[in-house]
Amino acid sequence: MCGIVGYVGTNPVLDILLDGLEQLEYRGYDSSGVAIKTESAINVYKAVGKLKNLREALKPYISDISASTIGIGHIRWATHGAPTIVNAHPHTCNCGNLVVVHNGIIENYKELKLKLEKQGCVFRSQTDTETVAHLVAQKYAQTKDLTKAVHLATKEIEGAYALEIMHNDEPNKLVITKRNAPLIIGVSEDGYYAASDIPAFIKHTNKAIYLSDNQVATITPDSLKIEDINGCEISPKVEQLPWEPVALSKMGYKHYMLKEIHEQPDVIRNILVGKLHTSDSPIELNEVKLTKETLKNLNRIQVIACGTSLHAAMVGKYLIEDFCGIPVDVEASSEYIYRKTVTDEHTLVIGVSQSGETADTLTAIKQAKARGSHILIITNRPDSAMAREADSLLSVNAGIEVSVAATKSYIAQLTSFYLLALYMAEIKGTVESDKLKHIKSEMLSLPQKIEQILSSKSEIQACARKYSGTKDFIYIARGLNYPTALEGALKLKEISYINATGYPAGELKHGPIAMLDETMPVLSILMNGSVYEKILSNSEEAKARNARMIALTNSSNDKLKDLFDYIIKVPDVDETLSPIIAIIPLQLIAYYIAEFLGKDVDQPRNLAKSVTVE
Ligand code: G6P
Repeated sequence: MCGIVGYVGTNPVLDILLDGLEQLEYRGYDSSGVAIKTESAINVYKAVGKLKNLREALKPYISDISASTIGIGHIRWATHGAPTIVNAHPHTCNCGNLVVVHNGIIENYKELKLKLEKQGCVFRSQTDTETVAHLVAQKYAQTKDLTKAVHLATKEIEGAYALEIMHNDEPNKLVITKRNAPLIIGVSEDGYYAASDIPAFIKHTNKAIYLSDNQVATITPDSLKIEDINGCEISPKVEQLPWEPVALSKMGYKHYMLKEIHEQPDVIRNILVGKLHTSDSPIELNEVKLTKETLKNLNRIQVIACGTSLHAAMVGKYLIEDFCGIPVDVEASSEYIYRKTVTDEHTLVIGVSQSGETADTLTAIKQAKARGSHILIITNRPDSAMAREADSLLSVNAGIEVSVAATKSYIAQLTSFYLLALYMAEIKGTVESDKLKHIKSEMLSLPQKIEQILSSKSEIQACARKYSGTKDFIYIARGLNYPTALEGALKLKEISYINATGYPAGELKHGPIAMLDETMPVLSILMNGSVYEKILSNSEEAKARNARMIALTNSSNDKLKDLFDYIIKVPDVDETLSPIIAIIPLQLIAYYIAEFLGKDVDQPRNLAKSVTVE
C-alpha cells in the first residue's frame, strides 16, 4: 500500500526511480511523484493516476534533471485525501528545502498538525504525511543535522511508516527510517537503493539490508550508517537475495495474471519437493517447530487471514478438522483484532498472507503471540514482517506474484494446508493409511491435471465471452468447495467489477433465490463426492427459476446436459483435493471476462496487492 524508492549513488537517478516505481505499482497507482536533487535545489514532480502520467509530465524537464544522482519517489494508494496533485508525494516543508515520501499511516497526525499550525506551519494537503515534512523541518531548524532531526521527529510520531527524507542543505544525503512498514536497502558498487520492496532494485543489485523498526539509516553515495532508536551505530547485515529479475517479466503472456495462472503446476511441484516424495513416504515438514507431543495434544486452532488468503484458510479448516479432528476457527483478521478473542498457549494460531505485510493480519498475529500462542505463518514472503513473527514458518515459494489478483499464491497456500493437515494427521494417527496413501498419490498428480485444464483453456475462454455481458454472477458449492465459490466470485469482482457472489448451495433457497431469473448466471461447482447429489438438487431449484446454468464438474453424467446451458469439464480428482482443481477454471473465467471487457487486469481499480493499512 503505497511504494517508496530512493537512490543515492553515481548513476543518473531518474530512470532508477521511475523503473523502481513501476515495479512497485502493485502497491497502488492513484498518483506518483519524485523529488530529484539538482545543483541548486530539490525539484519535485507529481502526476495523478498511473506512473505513465508521471513519465509524461516529466518530459519537458528531463534535461534539468538527467545528470542528477540522488532522489526519492513514491507511488500512492490514497488513504488521507483524494488522489490529487496536492496530495501526491513527495511532500515538502514550507520553504521547500525538505522533502519526504512515506508509506504507512501517521495515526496522531491530527494532533501533530494542530501543534505545527500553531507554530506557523501552513498545510497544503489533506495527507497525514505532510505533518512529517513540517515536523522534521522544525527539528532540522533546531539541530542542523538531518539524521538527528529524523530521530527527534519519529519520537513524536505514532503509527506505521517507512520514510525517506532529503534536505537541500545536506545535498548528498538520504535519511530513511521505518516502523511497522517495510523498507529495504539495496547495496551496490554504484550506490545505495532504498525501497518498500525488492523488485524496485533487483535489476541493479541482489545484495540487501533489511532495516528493522526504529532504525535510522543515513546514506551518501559512498557511505551507509545505521543507528538504533538511541542513536547508537549498529553494523548492518548484508544479505544475498535469492531473486532473479526474470521473475518480473510477462514471459510473452498478455498479462501477469495469465502468466501466473500458468505457473501453478510448477508452483505445486516446487512446494512438494522435499516434503512429499511418494505416496508411501511420510510428509516431511521440518518447518513446523511444535513438538510431536504438543501437536498431538492441540485442542484448538485459529486461522486468521484476509481476502484470498482467507479463502485458503477456509479450505484449511475443512482439511484439518476432517483429517485431524481438531476444531478450527477461521476469521478475517480485521474482525479478530477488535474483539476479545479467546487464545492462549494451548492454541495454535495460523496466519496466512501472500504478502506477509497485511496490516490487519500482522496486528492479529502480534496479539495472539502476546497471549502465548504458537504462531505458524503461511506466506509467500519469507522476508516479510509477518514471517519474522513466526515460531513456525511455512514459506510457500510461489515466486513473485505481480498481478494484484492473487492466483498462484492461493494455490501455494492451499497446497501448504494439505501438507500441514496430512502431516498433523500422520502424527496423530487420525487417517487410515490407505486413505493417506490415496490422497498423497492424488496430490502428486495435481500439476499434470492442472496442465490438462490449461491446455483446453479456449473452451473456458468461449464460456467467459458468452457471459461477459452479465451484471451479476452467482457461484454455488457445498463443503470443501464453498470457499472455492467465494474465491471464484472474488476473482471476478476484483478484475471485472461484476457483482459476483459465492453461496453455500443449500443457502440459495433462504434468500438469494429471490434474485434468480433468466438474466442471472448461476455457476454450480459440482465435483464428484459426498455433496454431489445435494448440489445437483440445488442446481435444479435454480434452473426452475430460469437461471442461466453453468456447471463446473468432473462428472461424466449425461443428464447434466439437460440441466446446464454450459458445462466446464475438469479432470477427475478425489473430492478432498477438488478445491485445487476447481479454482483453475474460475480464475480463467474471471481473467477472460475482464480481458474481454478491456479492464486493467493486472492493476484493477481501487485495489492494492499489499495492504499495509488497517
Ligand atoms: C489485498 C489483495 C488480495 C489479498 C489480500 C490479503 O486485498 O488485493 O489479493 O488476498 O490483500 O493479502 P495477503 O497478502 O495478506 O494475502
